[in-house]
Amino acid sequence: GGVGAIQIKHFDKDFRSKQLIKDAILDNDFLKNLDSTQIWEMVNCMYEKRIQKDHYIIKESEAGQALYVSAEGELEVSKDGKILGIMAAGRAFGELAILYNCTRTASVKALSEARIWVLDRRVFQAVMMKSGIQRRNEN
Ligand code: CMP
Repeated sequence: GGVGAIQIKHFDKDFRSKQLIKDAILDNDFLKNLDSTQIWEMVNCMYEKRIQKDHYIIKESEAGQALYVSAEGELEVSKDGKILGIMAAGRAFGELAILYNCTRTASVKALSEARIWVLDRRVFQAVMMKSGIQRRNEN
């Protein structure tokens, strides 16, 4: 690899966790059209993080460093102090800043102790590039 090449590292996880992540990705309007190779790579590369109650996972207007899938607990989405929604387990979020290279469109805070899966932006980009190149070579 050249400048900026990174390792695509896999993190072991149980079957139920893999299914939860995959289903969350397929349920997200902005992610569901990725091909299945890309989705499985995303599933394999995600790692777990525990979030304390009242802690912010995402802050509105900041640059995005990762996209996420909720695994446990309740999360609140807000913008300009207004609540936009509550998320339970099995939702992919934080995809907009990663896909469109924009700043975070909303804040996401844990309403309870929570557990999330994290995919770093640079890994996401590497996964997209790798499978894009593979697809081209197959055509
Ligand atoms: P992103 O903008 O990267 O970071 C904030 C995330 O909150 C955003 O991606 C979406 O995943 C999510 N989000 C934004 N607006 C809404 C909304 N109206 N309802 C639920 N989730 C939202």
